[in-house]
Amino acid sequence: MARPYVITIASEKGGVGKTTLATNLAIYLKALVEDLPVTLFSFDNHFTVDQMFRLKKTPSEHHVGQLFTGLQPENLISTGQYGVNYIPSNSRLYDFIQHIQSVDQLALKVAESALQGILIIDTSPVLDIYTRSALYAADRIIVPIKDAPSLENCRHLADFLSQSQRPKTTLKILPCLIDTRIRFDGPFRNSYQLLKAYAINRGYRCYEGFIAKSPKVETLSTNPSGKIYPVITHARQTEVHLQLSHLARQVYLDYLENGPTRLIEIANYLFEQQELHAAQFRQRRQRIPSGCLYCGTAIEPTDAIWPDLYYLESIDSSYCGFIEERCLFKLLLQHYFRELTGTNQQSLLGDFLYDPTRRGYLLLQKTRLDREQTRLELYRLDHQGEKISGRSVEVLESSFHQQHKQDTSGDLFSQAYPEQNTGTQTLLLQRCGANPFHILEHQPYLSWLTTLNRIEIDDISRQHEG
Ligand SMILES: Nc1ncnc2c1ncn2[C@@H]1O[C@H](COP(=O)(O)OP(=O)(O)OP(=O)(O)O)[C@@H](O)[C@H]1O
Ligand SMILES: [Mg+2]
Repeated sequence: MARPYVITIASEKGGVGKTTLATNLAIYLKALVEDLPVTLFSFDNHFTVDQMFRLKKTPSEHHVGQLFTGLQPENLISTGQYGVNYIPSNSRLYDFIQHIQSVDQLALKVAESALQGILIIDTSPVLDIYTRSALYAADRIIVPIKDAPSLENCRHLADFLSQSQRPKTTLKILPCLIDTRIRFDGPFRNSYQLLKAYAINRGYRCYEGFIAKSPKVETLSTNPSGKIYPVITHARQTEVHLQLSHLARQVYLDYLENGPTRLIEIANYLFEQQELHAAQFRQRRQRIPSGCLYCGTAIEPTDAIWPDLYYLESIDSSYCGFIEERCLFKLLLQHYFRELTGTNQQSLLGDFLYDPTRRGYLLLQKTRLDREQTRLELYRLDHQGEKISGRSVEVLESSFHQQHKQDTSGDLFSQAYPEQNTGTQTLLLQRCGANPFHILEHQPYLSWLTTLNRIEIDDISRQHEG
C-alpha cells in the first residue's frame, strides 16, 4: 500500500512565511511533476488554504478537525485549483482537542489512509498538540527562519524530535523573507549567508538558497477578489518564483531519494501492535471457562443472541469468566439483599444495579472480620472506577458457606481465592453488551485493568487508614 511522504512546515515564530511557503510549495511541486498527488492542509486558524484553492462557492462540510474523529483523511479532501488536493480549514480547532488522545494519532490515521504522493501540513506558530502531531508524522520538517530569534526557536522543535526518538536531520532550515538589499561587511555579505552560517553552526541542515522578501508577493494576499493568488501565476517575474522552483526541485529529489519512510515505519508499528493485541485477546479468551461461573451451564448464544452476561475477574486477574445475570441476581439476593422478599425482589435489585451508561462496574468484596463474622460489600462504580453507591452487610461466615455446603461451585470467592482466608477478597464485574468477548479486546481490557488497579490501590490505602 502506497503511503504519502509528509512534509510539515513549522516554526514557533509567527509571520515567517510558513503558510505562504506551504501553499506555494504544493503548487510548484504539482507544476514540476504533474501526476504526483499533492495534498495540503493547515492547522493554522485562518483560511488561506481555502482562499487559494477553493473551486466551489459552497464550502465543504469537511475540515481538518475531523482528522481526529472517526472519518478517513481521504474522505475529507476537496479537489482544489492548480491540481492540488486540500482539506478545508477550521478556525475552531480547539473544539476537537478532546478527540486527541496522543501525539501519534494523526500519523496512525494518515498511515492507514489511502493518501498518496506528498502531503504538506502547515502549522500554527504554537507548539500545541496539532503542531506536535504534524511534526511526529513528518518525513521532512521545513523550518522557515527570517532572523536569529526564529533560528533560536528551532531548538524547541529539535527537542521535540529528540523526545520522540526522531533524528534532528528531519529538520531542514530555509531562510525566508530575506531582504537582499541589506548588505554587511565581512565574510557574510547578507542576512541569508549569516543565518545559514548560524544554522550550520548549530548542527542544522539547510536548503540551498532562500526565499526573498518581495513587495509583489506581499500583495498577493490582499486584493478585491478576496482570493489569495500563488506566486506561480501572479508573481512569475519575481526572484521568489525562481527560488520556489529551486526549492520544489530539492524537495522532490528528497522525496525520490528517501520515499515515505515515516508512515511506513508507523504502519509497520501499527501492524505489529495489532498482531500483538490479537494474540493477547486470543490468550485472554482461551482462559474463559465455557460455562457460567455460578451454575456451570454452558453459555451459548441462541440465534446469535447471548444471554445477559456479566464478565468477572479477581483482583490479580487469575480467576475470570462470565456469569449469567439471573445467577448474579440469585447470588446477590442470597447474601447482600436478604431483606428483599416477594415477587418484585428481582426488579428492586435491577433498579439498584441499573446503569444508564452501561460502562460502569460492580464490585463485590468479602472480608473475614474474625473467626465468625464476615463483611460483604457491594459497590456500583462509574466507568472510571469511582464508587457511586454501595452497601455493606455483616454475616456469619458459617451462614455464608451454608449455601454452598454440598456444592462449592457457586461460591465465587472460594473459587477465586482458594488459598486466602484473611484480608479482603475482591471480584470486579461489568455487564456485557451484545458481544461479551468485546471486553477482552485491547482498549476495553486496558480500561478494565485500570479499574482493577484503582481498586487495589484504594484497598491498600484503606488498610493503612484502618
Ligand atoms: N516572500 C515574501 N515576500 C513578501 N512577503 C511575504 C513573503 N512570504 C510571505 N509574505 C507575507 O508575510 C506575511 C506572513 O506570511 P505567512 O502568513 O505565510 O506567515 P506564517 O509563518 O504562516 O504566519 P503565522 O505564524 O501567523 O501563521 C503575510 O502577509 C505574507 O503575505
Ligand atoms: Mg500561517
